[in-house]
Amino acid sequence: MGLLDDIDEILIPEEALRGRIRELGRTISKDYEGKEPLLVGILTGAVLFMSDLLREITIPCQLDFMATSSYAEGTTSSGIVRILKDLDQSIEGRHVIVVDDIIDTGLTMDYLLETLKTRYPASLKVCALLDKLPRRIRHVPIDYRGFEIPDKFVVGYGLDYAGRYRNLRFICVLKPETYGESKTEAGTAASAAR
Ligand code: IMP
Ligand code: MG
Repeated sequence: MGLLDDIDEILIPEEALRGRIRELGRTISKDYEGKEPLLVGILTGAVLFMSDLLREITIPCQLDFMATSSYAEGTTSSGIVRILKDLDQSIEGRHVIVVDDIIDTGLTMDYLLETLKTRYPASLKVCALLDKLPRRIRHVPIDYRGFEIPDKFVVGYGLDYAGRYRNLRFICVLKPETYGESKTEAGTAASAAR
């Protein structure tokens, strides 16, 4: 059984991702003309998005990463956020763009923004590939949004279920029977390194 056998529905095909990310890259390049933004990727889910977005940005920019853990159980977020890996550099006076795969409840991004704000960036914006608005608990200002998606748990293009499916080239929904099958990792792995 390959990864593709677990897929129920493709929500966003590869070409659509590429096209939208190109647009986001162009917009960011225009908005930050003459500045040198620092893109902060949230590990691990944002790595594919980040690397493709970066290649669509045509102005000088820099890169850093943070990792968070949400202590979640399975496919839901608990709201308690912990920083597992902090930035390697100061963001004081920098134009920061936080890049994440998906804003779901908004709890993670809300916490991150509050934390980063205390470090005196010149500006602080959010770029999210996916916006799952129906699930929002905390308001998050999304300055650059890839796609709005319905209230479904999605995987692929960096997003995982129990650590798996990140290497799919598209965003998709898994067959219902797939969730809960991975008994060893579903609880613990989904909470760490989301
Ligand atoms: P939050 O609920 O907005 O705090 O989302 C926290 C993190 O949970 C996101 O950055 C994702 O890494 C992960 N997440 C939320 N929804 C999904 C999903 O549908 N698929 C995979 N990961 C998700
Ligand atoms: Mg994440």
